[in-house]
Amino acid sequence: MKTLWIFAHPETRSLNATLRDTGVAALGERGHEVRQSDLYAMGWKPVVDREDFPARNAQDRLLIGEAQEHAHHRGLLSPDVRAEQEKIAWADTLVFHFPLWWLGPPAILKGWFDRVLVQGFAFGVKDPHGRTRRYGDGGLAGKRAMVVTSVGARPSSFGPRGIHGFVDDILFPLHHGTFWYTGMAPLPPFVLYGADRAGAADAKKWQEQLRARMDALETLAPLAYRHEAGGDYDADLTLRTHLAPGRTGLDIHAA
Ligand SMILES: Cc1cc2nc3c(=O)[nH]c(=O)nc-3n(C[C@H](O)[C@H](O)[C@H](O)COP(=O)(O)O)c2cc1C
Repeated sequence: MKTLWIFAHPETRSLNATLRDTGVAALGERGHEVRQSDLYAMGWKPVVDREDFPARNAQDRLLIGEAQEHAHHRGLLSPDVRAEQEKIAWADTLVFHFPLWWLGPPAILKGWFDRVLVQGFAFGVKDPHGRTRRYGDGGLAGKRAMVVTSVGARPSSFGPRGIHGFVDDILFPLHHGTFWYTGMAPLPPFVLYGADRAGAADAKKWQEQLRARMDALETLAPLAYRHEAGGDYDADLTLRTHLAPGRTGLDIHAA
């Protein structure tokens, strides 16, 4: 297994930094290759700006996605973006590790998605019939991706009726909208609850649980989502009425 561990936490002495060290070491001990992107340590630039693509003809309307695709195909992306894409191409498994901030990843990681997963590389790639490969297929097809995250709240409050919203729904934009959209199989997330009240015993327990998760990483069954090309959606990209009849909500996209 070749794992790229993408880590987004600013503090080297944090609970999450300890867990990152544990996870990376566990993979190494099991004979797997690991590369890392420690976004704060790298000083990652999280904002898409005009430096990310060479200026196009001044008369062109500036569409960022189009400009990124152009830069991608011409090999003109910034060196930091190309370096991340090269690591992704190398990896068969991607781990995205971050503390949950305002129900999502820290901005530095959001900016990694914005800048690295460009059109023509991760999405917007076409099959031989000219159809765009999406949801279960795409530029990153064949790879697996897993979230490792810690949250301040308790498990019940992130449960199916929890006040913060169901954790499966909170992570849907990553699992379905980012991983699955680009073709990556989303693995069940590794979520640590009550992280702000954790003591040494909790940290030790979580390290053990993370080691066990690393043992299972290669064989873990992904979350099952519907493939766009699998026939479940109509031409308007709406789930056909006989599937999950009468239901709405994010979980109708589970296969
Ligand atoms: C800016 C910020 C936003 C946060 N948002 C949430 C949140 O939406 N839900 C939650 O349960 N915890 C939230 N937390 C708590 C963090 O998830 C928690 O502090 C972190 O997981 C602890 O890990 P660490 O010690 O490695 O930083 C937030 C913390 C910060 C600093």
